[in-house]
Amino acid sequence: MLDREQFISGQNIADTLGVSRTAIWKTIQSLKEEGYSIESVTSKGYHLKNPPKYLSPTALSVLIGQSGLFSNVEYFTTTPSTQKEAFRMLSETKDSFMVVAEEQTQGRGRFDRHWDSPGKTGIYISLVLRPNIPITEIIRFNLFISLAISKSLDEAFGVDTGIKWPNDIYLDDKKICGFLTEVVSESGVINAIICGIGINIFKDDSRLKIPTATSIEDIIGSSEKIDVDSFMERFLDNIEIYYNRFLNEPFSLIREDWKEKSIIFGKELRITETGSMFMARALDINEDGFLEVLDEEGNIRKIISADIEL
Ligand code: BTN
Repeated sequence: MLDREQFISGQNIADTLGVSRTAIWKTIQSLKEEGYSIESVTSKGYHLKNPPKYLSPTALSVLIGQSGLFSNVEYFTTTPSTQKEAFRMLSETKDSFMVVAEEQTQGRGRFDRHWDSPGKTGIYISLVLRPNIPITEIIRFNLFISLAISKSLDEAFGVDTGIKWPNDIYLDDKKICGFLTEVVSESGVINAIICGIGINIFKDDSRLKIPTATSIEDIIGSSEKIDVDSFMERFLDNIEIYYNRFLNEPFSLIREDWKEKSIIFGKELRITETGSMFMARALDINEDGFLEVLDEEGNIRKIISADIEL
């Protein structure tokens, strides 16, 4: 409601949201402390001059309050790993929730690799979701979620990201985001999905040593236009949309959208699967989310999960 173009009165915000003016005043103070530049003028009200440089926990908890999917967000300025926190919190609630951190000291990627997570340069999130479905569905989950992340980045930052099956999002041939899907299950039924997502937002020197990585700031050339709170709004919307589609629809309904975003077709791929490496070309992605490739011996192979180099 805090618009950049015009003022809005505290009373107007309070009436619209059905809360007291004191509650509005307190929230405005929190937003200011978190970096929002908000002008207040007597008899006119409030006006947003600039959003903060990084995420605002207050804005995030407002978004979570409106979410039809998540009941709670746990926010850390620093933590070893949001994945670790999410696992720890699993026994505290049966609901879906999110863990967000400004910095991780032991960020973890796929295959137990280290995930560089310096303070306020990226977004580090773990989503905890509670579908009551067979564990075999988890491959489809990755396809829906990768599309949700890719679309959110495009919508918020005006870029054109691509999906590198199974768990990476790329921009200009470099990795901008990786995600990691872990599951707690019982008797073949999922009890919780813990999906950890790391997105490189701002430039950071430590990333220079990884030539295959990039950030939103590296691509769009300036940090001025980066509004992380707006990204979170798009992200939460898309996660909810694509998670519901995952629960209710076959992959075939998003298959063409997904393939349009995929960057692996028509390329020579170096695939490492359960320790052995081979070269292949991607042919298609089937209904269950398996990748079909043609190897150098002319065999068609179906892959569930692998490390892929372009
Ligand atoms: C990968 O590309 O290997 C996946 C990277 C996943 C990183 C995220 S950051 C938030 C969450 N917490 C972690 O420790 N890892 C995931």
